[in-house]
Amino acid sequence: MTKPAILQTNLGTLTLPNPFILASGPPTASGEMIRRAFEKGWGGAVIKTIRPDGMDIRDLSPRFAAWKGVRGELYGFENVELLSKRTISYWVEEIRAIKQDFPDNMLIASIMGDTDPKTWQTLAIAVQDAGCDAIELNVSCPHGIPKAGLGASIGQNPTLIRDFTRTVSAVARVPVYVKLTPNITDISVIAQAAAEGGADGISAINSVQCMLGVDIDTFTPVPSVDGYATPGGYSGPAIRPIGLKMVSEIARTVQLPIMGIGGVSRWQDAVEYMLLGAAAVQVCTAVMWNGYGIIRGMREGLTRYLTEKEYCSPDAIRGMALNRIRTHQAMNRSVRIYPAVGGQEICSRCGRCITACRDGGYQALNMTGGGVILNRERCDGCGLCILVCGTGTLIEALR
Ligand SMILES: Cc1cc2nc3c(=O)[nH]c(=O)nc-3n(C[C@H](O)[C@H](O)[C@H](O)COP(=O)(O)O)c2cc1C
Repeated sequence: MTKPAILQTNLGTLTLPNPFILASGPPTASGEMIRRAFEKGWGGAVIKTIRPDGMDIRDLSPRFAAWKGVRGELYGFENVELLSKRTISYWVEEIRAIKQDFPDNMLIASIMGDTDPKTWQTLAIAVQDAGCDAIELNVSCPHGIPKAGLGASIGQNPTLIRDFTRTVSAVARVPVYVKLTPNITDISVIAQAAAEGGADGISAINSVQCMLGVDIDTFTPVPSVDGYATPGGYSGPAIRPIGLKMVSEIARTVQLPIMGIGGVSRWQDAVEYMLLGAAAVQVCTAVMWNGYGIIRGMREGLTRYLTEKEYCSPDAIRGMALNRIRTHQAMNRSVRIYPAVGGQEICSRCGRCITACRDGGYQALNMTGGGVILNRERCDGCGLCILVCGTGTLIEALR
């Protein structure tokens, strides 16, 4: 029998019991919450961003909106939430106490100073003296904060990100992770700037700027506060493809450990991030929606997956999909697929594939009494019909 994989993970110089970390956000808003999460089995937690005591962090109400499927499943989530409401002294006490009770779990302090770099150093010194394992710089919050010259307005500017990282690295004795915003044109430039500033690792991504929807009766975008709305940060399953792409670019640009973030809600999502270069993953929205308990299925699923594939730990699969990425120009254009009929008996005759091919493709499919038939001469191999097929009748075949 194969020896079961272990989930212990190396993140730069740090070791975690497993690669599942709570991202900075509502699930890490208090010491009591982080303790409960560690008891449930989370490997680490990034504290809700700690800011200077005087900073205005009055939150809006409501401050969330959700895009849901008909069965209530979450596709995407918007928030306009600000930073931790707790004081620095509260967090200093909590970090000390949590690390005493959970020495093996990784506790990362997310910090955001104001425009004076010294305030970043003050925060960094306070949290590291309290005993946190690493510091994460929040230079990526997309709403509210950028107007004050902070958050994403630092993270969108390579010079500023280099300077702020350098400022904190100058006083840091624990690893400094820089949390990047996806709201930029080229994340590799930003990752490179963080590395030049002395970052020990990268966390990516923070939420994606968005306007989740508009109430078509009241003409007000959501979430509406007193009849008005303001753009927010998008998170949850819908942003996973954006996070994956960003992480793969960062991994190909800098030789630093990466925490992959964005839409992780199942162990398979975590594996995808790891295959594209992440050492560990962070989770926020999925825990807000379903609670800390999701960690059990994530840990079990990842252990099973690694064991079945005969990998000893998550470290062993890190970056294994990176050499499968090419430029568009370098892709093989001679490969052509077509839809093969896997079994006419499972075809529901819904006609979706015919419509898609007729109005969004190459008019290559027809329905006959015997089921779907393909005109190979017309088929261009785009694959749309296979994607819209809800029953698995159409499957990919090589020409
Ligand atoms: C309600 C809410 C509050 C958040 N607050 C913070 C924060 O204080 N600091 C921070 O760095 N990121 C914050 N985030 C961003 C998350 O840490 C994470 O980067 C983002 O939500 C994407 O991950 P997810 O899809 O797993 O939620 C927040 C996200 C949400 C949904």
